[in-house]
Amino acid sequence: MVKIAPSVLAADFIKLGEDIESISTSDYLHFDVMDGLFVPNISFGIPVLWSVRKATSMVLDVHLMIDTPSRYISKFSEAGADIITFHVEAEAPENIISVIDSIHELGKKAGISISPNTHAEAVLPYIDSLDLVLVMTVEPGYGGQEFMKHVLPKISLIRSVIDERGLDCELEVDGGINIETAKLCVDAGANVLVAGVDVFGAADRAARIAELRSV
Ligand code: DX5
Ligand code: ZN
Repeated sequence: MVKIAPSVLAADFIKLGEDIESISTSDYLHFDVMDGLFVPNISFGIPVLWSVRKATSMVLDVHLMIDTPSRYISKFSEAGADIITFHVEAEAPENIISVIDSIHELGKKAGISISPNTHAEAVLPYIDSLDLVLVMTVEPGYGGQEFMKHVLPKISLIRSVIDERGLDCELEVDGGINIETAKLCVDAGANVLVAGVDVFGAADRAARIAELRSV
């Protein structure tokens, strides 16, 4: 089944609690952390995650777009993350396995994300230990960007590896997802769809979540 993960980046932060409640029929709540270093933008971080954790029992899918994420894994874990995904481009290669292990030791699910121009080969050496691979379909940093179709073959390639090896690893896509691009991603093998503007901008958010789930 396809899972939907609305991105809180597209919420109205003045009424964040209400906005989270409005998407509670979705599967995960996607929480985008940006540090102004790994990506040009700065979003929100640990104190906001603590508050969100208190407000909802939804699965919190934390997407770290931060430099050297190994520095902050325990902080995001304590603050209530359920899934912690970091960018392979943001950590020294020799640390990647220990970051995955530290997420697991904290009892959380571990994901690796790859930016649009990063090859699938960057994540494949770790895929047997991962709970999730996040393929970015826009350059990380901002919501509301246009979907990059050239990423689709990479999604198919990663799906074929997951299936061939029989792995229990989710394949998530993030950026520019709407009804049309959701279908392209699901057809390519994605099973978790992050959507910011498309869900939070919909007049009926629950209906849009249902539509995206059944593309
Ligand atoms: C982008 C973030 C996304 C973003 C998606 O760097 O990782 O999660 O919020 O936004 P939309 O769905 O609006 O493209
Ligand atoms: Zn994201």
